Amino acid sequence: MSDLGRPQFPAARPRRLRATPALRRLVRETRLSADNLVMPLFVRGGKGVRRPINSMPGNFQFSVDELVKEARVIQKLGVPAILLFGLPDKKDAKASGAYAKHGIVQTAVRAVKDAVPELLVITDVCNCEYTSHGHCGIVRKRRDGALDVDNDATLELLAKSAVSHAEAGADIVAPSDMMDGRVAAIRRALDKAGFANTPIMSYAAKFASGFYGPFREAADSPPQFGDRRTYQMDCANGDEALREVALDIAEGADIVMVKPALAYLDLVRRVKDRFGYPTAVYNVSGEFSMVKAAAEKGWLDERAVVMEIMTAFRRSGADIIITYWAKDVARWLGE
Ligand code: PBG
Repeated sequence: MSDLGRPQFPAARPRRLRATPALRRLVRETRLSADNLVMPLFVRGGKGVRRPINSMPGNFQFSVDELVKEARVIQKLGVPAILLFGLPDKKDAKASGAYAKHGIVQTAVRAVKDAVPELLVITDVCNCEYTSHGHCGIVRKRRDGALDVDNDATLELLAKSAVSHAEAGADIVAPSDMMDGRVAAIRRALDKAGFANTPIMSYAAKFASGFYGPFREAADSPPQFGDRRTYQMDCANGDEALREVALDIAEGADIVMVKPALAYLDLVRRVKDRFGYPTAVYNVSGEFSMVKAAAEKGWLDERAVVMEIMTAFRRSGADIIITYWAKDVARWLGE
């Protein structure tokens, strides 16, 4: 009687699986596939141009013709999507190039969708590559004389850019500026223009970060004065990030993003658990460059480290990984 309820056998002890490769595959918790990847690409004017980006080895600023070739390679590798950034010939205070019908991104989208229709084209919707001052919006003088980004005036430009991208054939638009109310403004404008089915991937939790350094060389978009701290978030604030994500979802975001990735994986997990939305991480330029630099010095094994990083993104809850390693990872997964 007194034996009832007592374990009959020694209690199960955690036991390391003597894993053969097949067994390891069978019990692996986290799966990474090329389907998760998005490759960011930079496009500029000219013909036959592939200008290397020094701080991001293996990445280039492509002219439209070269971009199309690269898009084909990416699609063949099984990567489902690219994220396009444009470098206009001319910049001005109103970011005119961002929403011009024949702007660099609009032209590039048409060319890629024409040549490689199966490849999803996501466009970055932001003004910083197009403004002479390098800020993400319209700059105004405040009453106290200080220069500031005018949130509401910027919304109009962002909405115009998003519609111009959709008209060119973009499959998804991705606002990266962090102005308040931009998702709602873009959603309204897209719906009105007949693009109710074009999804919005919002950079919902985007932090002011030192990890964007190399990108600003790549996209030629460093702010010419001040910094982006008035509209990007403080890395100390995790609860605020969740509030930002909630707002973007309420405004109509279809996919939400956390950016940068590596130092913010706690937030990827919280966002995924709290909202259950398709969640993207942006493995940003600085995260790429630091591994590249160490690998070039022979200090670490790039492939091993990159696969570990990608797996960690998936383990944290990311469905979509935007990464400059997309091509390499797809290739390695296929070997
Ligand atoms: C700007 C934008 C930035 C990145 C993507 N969109 C830079 C910034 O906010 O300063 C960074 C991407 C990267 O570092 O790889 N709208």
